[in-house]
Order: sequence, then C-alpha cells, then structure tokens
Amino acid sequence: MRTEKTIIITGGAGFIGSHVVRHFVTRYPQYTIINLDKLTYAGNLANLRDIEEKENYKFIKGDIIDAAFIDRLFAEQKPDAVIHLAAESHVDRSISSPVEFVMTNVVGTVNLLNAAKACWKGVYDKCRFYHVSTDEVYGALTGDGMFTEETRYDPHSPYSASKASSDHFVRAYRDTFGMDIVISNCSNNYGSFHFPEKLIPLAINNIKNSKPVPVYGKGENIRDWLWVEDHVKAIDLIFHNAKAGTTYNVGGHNEWKNIDLIRLLCNIMDRKLSRVPGTSAQLITFVKDRAGHDLRYAINATKLQQELGWKPSLQFEEGLEKTVDWYLANEEWLDQVTSGAYQKYYSDQYSES
Ligand code: NAD
Ligand code: DAU
Repeated sequence: MRTEKTIIITGGAGFIGSHVVRHFVTRYPQYTIINLDKLTYAGNLANLRDIEEKENYKFIKGDIIDAAFIDRLFAEQKPDAVIHLAAESHVDRSISSPVEFVMTNVVGTVNLLNAAKACWKGVYDKCRFYHVSTDEVYGALTGDGMFTEETRYDPHSPYSASKASSDHFVRAYRDTFGMDIVISNCSNNYGSFHFPEKLIPLAINNIKNSKPVPVYGKGENIRDWLWVEDHVKAIDLIFHNAKAGTTYNVGGHNEWKNIDLIRLLCNIMDRKLSRVPGTSAQLITFVKDRAGHDLRYAINATKLQQELGWKPSLQFEEGLEKTVDWYLANEEWLDQVTSGAYQKYYSDQYSES
C-alpha cells in the first residue's frame, strides 16, 4: 500500500541517521521510511532494533557510490523525498584516507542527486532533497565571532572539503535544474549510539576501562556541542517547513574547550562508577595534535530559531550525564563496536602518541 510519502534516509544505520530514522518512523506512521545504508564500520543495525519491525520501516543495504544501483533503487521505490546523511564522517580517517571521503561524500551525493533528478522530472516542486551537512565547511574561528549562513566556505580537512564540495553540488542542482533542495549545517552532536572513534564516546569507553584518554595538543580547541535529538528536531522542522533552496545553521550555543569537557566528563564518570573524585582525570593524556586542527567552531542558529521556532532543549551537563548513563547501560553495544576492526584503527591512530 502506498503511504502519504516515501522518504529515503541515507546513512540511517549511523549515529545521527539512526536517531533520524527512529524519529520519522515513530512520529510519522503515515510515511514509509527507507533506510539506505552500506553498513560501513560506522553503520550498525543494532542502533535500530527497537523499530526494525515497524510496518512503515524498510532497510536496504547499498552503496551510494554505485550509480547504477542508486538509479534502480529510485526507479523502483519512487521516493518523494531524500534526507541524506550517509557519509564518511571522521576527520582523523579523512587525513589518512582522503579518497574514500571524495567517493562517498562527493560522488555518492552527486549519484543521489542524479537519481532524484531523473525520478522527480516534472514534479520537482513536490519532491525534496535534504542534505545534512556540517559547520566544518566554514573553517575555523579565531576571534569571538560565530558562523552564520552567510559565512564564506573555508574547509581545512579532507573531510570538511568533501562536505563543502557536496554542499556546492546540492546547491548547483537547484540553480541548474530547479530541484527543491534544503541544507543544514550543524555543530558537533553527542548522545547515544555515537561511534567511539569520536571524542565523547571514546573518552567514556576509555575512562570506563581505565585506559588513557587522548587529548590532542593542549586541549585548547573549542567545539559547540548539541544533543543529537535536538538536531533531529531541527531536521524535522527544516524538512517540513523550509522554503526550497534554504540553508539553516544548527548549533547548541554550547562551546566547550576540549580539556574542560573531558574534565567534566571525568567528574561525571567518577560519580557514576563510585570512584574517588579525581581518579578518572588522572587518565588524561596529552597526545600529538591533529594535523590542520581547527581551533574553534561556534554556530549562530538565530535564523532557525526565528524562522522555524527551534531551540535546543537540553543543558549540556544534563545531556552528558544522560549520555554516560546510556553507555554504562549498553555495555554489549559498546563491546560489539569496539571489537575487531576498531582495535586496529585505535592502535594505528594513537600509536605515535
Ligand atoms: P556516522 O559515521 O555515524 O554514520 C554514517 C553512516 O553512513 C553509516 O551508517 C555508514 O554505514 C553510512 N555510509 C557510509 N558510506 C556509505 C556509502 N558509500 N553508501 C551508503 N551508506 C554509507 O555519521 P554521523 O556522525 O551520524 O553523521 C551523519 C551525517 O551528519 C554526515 O553527513 C555528517 O557529515 C553530518 N554531520 C555530523 C555531525 C556529528 O557531530 N556527528 C555534525 C554535523 C553534521
Ligand atoms: O562540527 C561537526 C563535526 O563534528 C562533524 O561534521 C563530524 O562528522 C564529527 O566527527 C565532528 O568532528 P570533530 O572533529 O569536531 O569531532 P571529534 O569527536 O573527532 O573531535 C572533537 C574534538 O576533540 C576535536 O577538537 C578533536 C579532539 N579530539 C578528538 C579525538 C577523537 C581529541 O582531543 N582526542 C581524540 O582522541
């Protein structure tokens, strides 16, 4: 039976994608949600166990680099919209394997745009391509300013360069072919199902196992952290309400120096694990800095707040505590994703430290 809308969500088995899929499947039973994911090291169907039996949910394993497969998929499924999250997402991996980032983030995005263009010919105004992007496309802040939607693109890592390129392609498909596209550029997310190659879950896992917590450089770099479910609410609002061609910045107004964040996390972990206060902080280890490490990101999300009424719901301390609780209650998930290939990645990434 055809439902009100069929939406392909790419990268739905990853961190943010799994929260987006869960939200759309449960909140909109009138939509069919197709999760298209290659299941790379970062994709995990265990992230979606609670909704995998829902009637309006379908998982399709596939690679967005494979243009013929993507064209066939669109011809068969006839989606009304795409919410595109599939990507190689980790900056450190982009430094060691840039081409993979070009392939998935740039070529994969263009393949999806081409398939959507062919599928939606004549009905562009009824179909929407939503591209989920990052604040890293704007580069690094040095003074007090914040990124707005007008900030000039200035990416520094192969990851951010590939995301910037994909943003340009998405806009080009509106300017050239008239497709309905929207883009959002979000700051650092945190929460459940976050793969432990990224700072917060990596630190939680290491503190739990009394292993050194690697802090790059002097820990002076600043990130603007947002609860993943607040990002999902922003995606829902933008998907349903944004005018075609619009870009919104999404961010938490929540800047933390890495070292201060890690100290806060250590305090929370001491309390949760009934350790003597100060025990976990002894694990902090300053290691070699990331190449081209952007100093500071900060998002001005005023446009989203004023036009669509969005604002973050959680205070950071509360969100971090909830996140720690989730990781401590989901040891099986953490053990599964940190076994096998993760061990090799970890020793390659941190061996010189
Ligand atoms: P993630 O690495 O956790 O998940 C990426 C997902 O994409 C995985 O499920 C993976 O299997 C899938 N994937 C990768 N290559 C694929 C391919 N070739 N074909 C099909 N599927 C493929 O990423 P995330 O952190 O959830 O980020 C999701 C999106 O949001 C990305 O586009 C990222 O750039 C963007 N973003 C992330 C953050 C953040 O803080 N994590 C912030 C802003 C924007
Ligand atoms: O800003 C949005 C971006 O946030 C997203 O587009 C990316 O997909 C996402 O991975 C994230 O990028 P970052 O590089 O900011 O996140 P990461 O968790 O890798 O690092 C956060 C900060 O912590 C950064 O300044 C680097 C530092 N860091 C990271 C790791 C993994 C450390 O000090 N030690 C570490 O071991």
